[in-house]
Amino acid sequence: MKNRLVERHVLFAVSVICLAVLDGCGSPQQGPGHEGVRETAAEVMDGEQLYNRYCKMCHSLGPPPKFGPPVKGIAMHYREAFTDKEEAVEHMVTFMQSPDPAMSKCRPQAIERFGLMPAMDLPEGTLRVVSDWFWEQFDPELRHQHGSGHDH
Ligand code: HEC
Repeated sequence: MKNRLVERHVLFAVSVICLAVLDGCGSPQQGPGHEGVRETAAEVMDGEQLYNRYCKMCHSLGPPPKFGPPVKGIAMHYREAFTDKEEAVEHMVTFMQSPDPAMSKCRPQAIERFGLMPAMDLPEGTLRVVSDWFWEQFDPELRHQHGSGHDH
């Protein structure tokens, strides 16, 4: 009888630990860019807030870069590749849903240096808002400093 009781306590403890562990691993993909994505995606945020939350850990605004090319550099390459903002935004959204080196508008050295960007597990509307913000960060000053030797 006493053993049974102990057994039950142990079982209870084990299930509490399991729950705690599961809770901490709500998202199957761990690592930068995926923490807290699910529970906050429904919030309404503007482009800059979305950037701060989901992109900033890898994309600094201007040089020096972190784990990916700076936003201003990306904006510059997208403005070279597209004249139409809508098209550029759509392209970024598709890219973020499933990054593909063949679709990259940055130079091939960017992927060689930083690796391929992980897919962003965010609703399409959210990706559109943040892509729009990326496009707007274009800084004409950067073009002058953007000589040889850069790699995005
Ligand atoms: C875990 C790091 C990481 C996070 C988080 C991240 N990115 Fe990236 N991103 C990269 C890397 C690395 C590259 C460069 C290689 C490439 O193009 O895939 C990149 C490239 C890009 C590009 C250029 C794609 C091209 O044409 O080559 C865009 C646009 C972009 N990111 C947007 C975003 C946005 C918007 C967010 C936030 C919602 C974000 N990224 C979050 C790592 C990240």
